[in-house]
Amino acid sequence: MRFTDQRILITGAGGQLGASFARSFVDEGAKLWLADSSSENLSKTIKLLPSDCILDSLVFDVSKPEEVANAFSQINESGRALDILVNNAGIGVFTPFWERDYNEFMHVMSVNAGGTFLCIREALRLMKDNSNGSIVNIGSIYGVVSSDPSIYTDCARMNSEVYSASKAAVIQMTKYFAVHAAELGVRVNCVSPGGVFNNQGDEFVENYSNRTPMHRMADENEICGAVKFLASSESKYVSGQNIIVDGGLTSW
Ligand SMILES: NC(=O)c1ccc[n+]([C@@H]2O[C@H](COP(=O)([O-])OP(=O)(O)OC[C@H]3O[C@@H](n4cnc5c(N)ncnc54)[C@H](O)[C@@H]3O)[C@@H](O)[C@H]2O)c1
Repeated sequence: MRFTDQRILITGAGGQLGASFARSFVDEGAKLWLADSSSENLSKTIKLLPSDCILDSLVFDVSKPEEVANAFSQINESGRALDILVNNAGIGVFTPFWERDYNEFMHVMSVNAGGTFLCIREALRLMKDNSNGSIVNIGSIYGVVSSDPSIYTDCARMNSEVYSASKAAVIQMTKYFAVHAAELGVRVNCVSPGGVFNNQGDEFVENYSNRTPMHRMADENEICGAVKFLASSESKYVSGQNIIVDGGLTSW
């Protein structure tokens, strides 16, 4: 029960990994603010959790500065301290770079990199008053290495240049804020998952698995351990790190 009485905000909580993180934190005693831009997705996660573990559900778009500021004001006005932020909201585009237009490129950057920045900035405004906090950003292996085009073949799940660029930004921002938030008593780290199984097509799953030393995609619950380690006081001397959880894919 590492998170008893800890208050955690998870963005993108309505998605596959966000829901898994939420369940996993609640299992260890946490109380949660659940955030997502989709109220429909959010309500699916809320149904999975005991109601007394949810502090509030917040519908906002992480790429909209005013919406982010309003959501963090709500948290502040609740009178409860924010102990942990998991910056998990993110989007991808799966079309070839030849088809990308500038607006689509900037949209992905604004959600993945811009949203991470806005939530970190607002969280630090609250966390500095307590001289305590832990922020865990969700990056990706594709912020570290390029995707291998041979695994995507014609299965319409091409990883994109802009997803990679945005996740590289998340990983680098982690280091920047680890340095600049240290004096506020806040640690900032990142977890970069490899591909998580979510009923993608057989061809993609087979290609991806063959490319991975452990010969399979991740189960969604296998990302939680690294997130919880970095969120908890077990890692109280760890800041600025990126833990890659990928079955070994980036090791060769
Ligand atoms: N699933 C994977 O294989 C994988 C691998 C590496 C990294 N990641 C990263 O993990 C995170 C979660 O991924 P997932 O697979 O659970 O995705 P998902 O699509 O299942 O969930 C993402 C959630 O974020 C929400 N969201 C999207 N845009 C938003 C915005 N602008 N503001 C607020 N919420 C927004 C969506 O509504 C959705 O509920 C993402 O950052 C993703 O890039 C996922």
